[in-house]
Amino acid sequence: MLLAAIETSCDETSVALVRDGTILSSVVSSQIKLHSEYGGVVPELATREHLRNLLPVAREAFQRAQIHATDLDAVAATQGPGLPPALVIGFQAGQALAYSLDRPFIGINHHEAHLYSPWIHDGRAAFDSFEPSISLIVSGGHTMLVHVRAELDHVVLGSTVDDAAGECFDKTAKLLGLSYPGGPEMDRLAKTGNPRAHDFPRPMIKDAHDDFSFSGLKTSVRYFLRDHPETLESDQSIRDVCASVQSAIVEVLVQKTVRAARRLGVKCITASGGVTCNSALRTELQRACAQQNFKLLLAEPKLCTDNAGMIAILAERKLQRGNTPTNITADIRSSWTLE
Ligand code: KG4
Ligand code: ZN
Repeated sequence: MLLAAIETSCDETSVALVRDGTILSSVVSSQIKLHSEYGGVVPELATREHLRNLLPVAREAFQRAQIHATDLDAVAATQGPGLPPALVIGFQAGQALAYSLDRPFIGINHHEAHLYSPWIHDGRAAFDSFEPSISLIVSGGHTMLVHVRAELDHVVLGSTVDDAAGECFDKTAKLLGLSYPGGPEMDRLAKTGNPRAHDFPRPMIKDAHDDFSFSGLKTSVRYFLRDHPETLESDQSIRDVCASVQSAIVEVLVQKTVRAARRLGVKCITASGGVTCNSALRTELQRACAQQNFKLLLAEPKLCTDNAGMIAILAERKLQRGNTPTNITADIRSSWTLE
């Protein structure tokens, strides 16, 4: 099967082509620079930028894969969740392409695509080696623990009750005067900081449920900086705060993920979403899984942040397994639970 997928749920415009489980091309145009001066994604600007970039990105994806649109067997697009006006751009383009070619169209849940992205290795879907897993999805908008009981059969165990882990990184970084998005910058500065310099709270770490909460951590950093304003004048002090906040976030994520896997008797742990790029999270998950004999699959860094490659792989798999195509007149689903 030859399938094209479009992703425009937030601030990345992306188009990918996949054939029989292999990504032929995946082009991503990021709007990070555009939004950085506002300290967050501005929906209207994101929408206009998708509108401007979608066709050039699509042209490049088709050229790189040396595919013509008329060769396609199916078309997919992210249907939700995401910023409604941004979603509309890619979803409607996908519907129009499928309609004009008279091919099936399938709308994909963005989180479900993140969920299965750790099963993509070197641009190829590896669903043949699939096994039940506990999956951590950590991004700027969501933090979730999911029990994947079988392929395409999953149940959400818990999620954040307030801020997502990525949001906590970004908001804390803003308090420290770092540029947006703060996650990658905090990761970089934390490498030369002391993670034990400050004992920031580890919210819900001991709670028996699988939910998360990160807004209290951000607030405690705000109070700390209010009481110690001199921190912002020293490069090393900023690095120490970055390392200490990162260590608190990572400890909560790793402990709760491993505990859920033990409780449910699952042998495999996976992680995906933008925050899975974080070097400390990758290292600590590797350490915990090696110690406790869990197989660990981390989404490759280029598949952690938003991309159409993961949308394309999941869409093709769903169509191959007999999922019904989405109605060509279907609407976007700006909030859409994973189940
Ligand atoms: O999955 P994603 O690209 O978009 C959403 O669906 O939200 O995730 C973006 C989030 C941002 O909050 C960003 O700061 C965070 O992922 N992020 C990181 C790192 N790289 C990206 N957070 C911590 N460390 C990183 N290296
Ligand atoms: Zn995402």
